[in-house]
Amino acid sequence: MKEKTALVTGANSGIGKVTALALARMGAHVVMLCRNRDRGEAAQKEIIQESGNEKVDLMICDLSDMDSVHAFANDFFLRYNRLDVLVNNAGGYFDRRIVTVDGYEYTFAMNHLGHFLLTNRLLDLIRHSAPARIINVSSNAHQAGHIRFNDLMAVKRYMGWRAYSQAKLANVLFTYELDRRLKGSGVTVNAVHPGFVNTNFANNTYSFVRPMVRFAQFFARSAEKGAETSIYLASSPEVEGISGKYFIDKKERRSNRESYDQEIARRLWDVSEDLVNTI
Ligand SMILES: NC(=O)c1ccc[n+]([C@@H]2O[C@H](COP(=O)([O-])OP(=O)(O)OC[C@H]3O[C@@H](n4cnc5c(N)ncnc54)[C@H](OP(=O)(O)O)[C@@H]3O)[C@@H](O)[C@H]2O)c1
Repeated sequence: MKEKTALVTGANSGIGKVTALALARMGAHVVMLCRNRDRGEAAQKEIIQESGNEKVDLMICDLSDMDSVHAFANDFFLRYNRLDVLVNNAGGYFDRRIVTVDGYEYTFAMNHLGHFLLTNRLLDLIRHSAPARIINVSSNAHQAGHIRFNDLMAVKRYMGWRAYSQAKLANVLFTYELDRRLKGSGVTVNAVHPGFVNTNFANNTYSFVRPMVRFAQFFARSAEKGAETSIYLASSPEVEGISGKYFIDKKERRSNRESYDQEIARRLWDVSEDLVNTI
């Protein structure tokens, strides 16, 4: 990975931190996108120390805030002249409906819209760096997902799992649609389910979900194991040229039926474009 620049979102914790560390160990120039400066700096220090690679930068961005994503992209263009690997990893589950500064439902905004905007804003740079790779960290929770175009922001009814599975399905639909739009560009894009992983995930929940997650985490895999497929897709020669797929444990798997619906994927793209007011 020497000579390559890799951007990892949510790189201060869990799967993202392990992914950033692994890429730094391989010699990549790693850029960590984190929303909190203190947590970001602490993780950056650790990653530099453990990898022995000084080329680990920190940039601050809140993926739930579209202005913050635009500012991040503008800054990124000033600082870097290539982007070989983008790992859209940050994500979260929220058992209460939260509204973002843009007036959007938080789960949909930070899991999907922020990464949709980030990727599209950086896409020229990624194309210019081809062969390049984009990895979208989704979840098998998407299997229960459905895109509710009539209530994308869950105004009528909010349920944590419904919002999360919809957002993670959006990650997969975005992956497949982006792949169709990138054909022939030398840029690949794949989605990942990391498994059930013991991280800070869902630590912010207060309902019955929290004790359930806490209990289940005894049986969960480590963040190191959870990051393996992201790292594989970001760096392995075995997946050179492979694109538009959904991976679990380094193997291609079927995603849910709705994820293969090209009409839904195009519609979600158009709606997302309008929502981020881009591009
Ligand atoms: N853990 C699992 O079992 C599991 C299963 C399937 C899929 N996943 C997916 O795996 C990915 C990584 O999650 P994880 O398990 O490693 O959880 P984690 O330890 O909670 O890490 C999530 C990361 O996302 C960052 N983040 C949260 N909100 C953000 C925002 N608005 N802007 C920018 N960054 C933000 C967090 O930053 P802070 O530290 O500042 O909060 C943190 O760095 C997520 O996409 C998740 O949906 C996880």
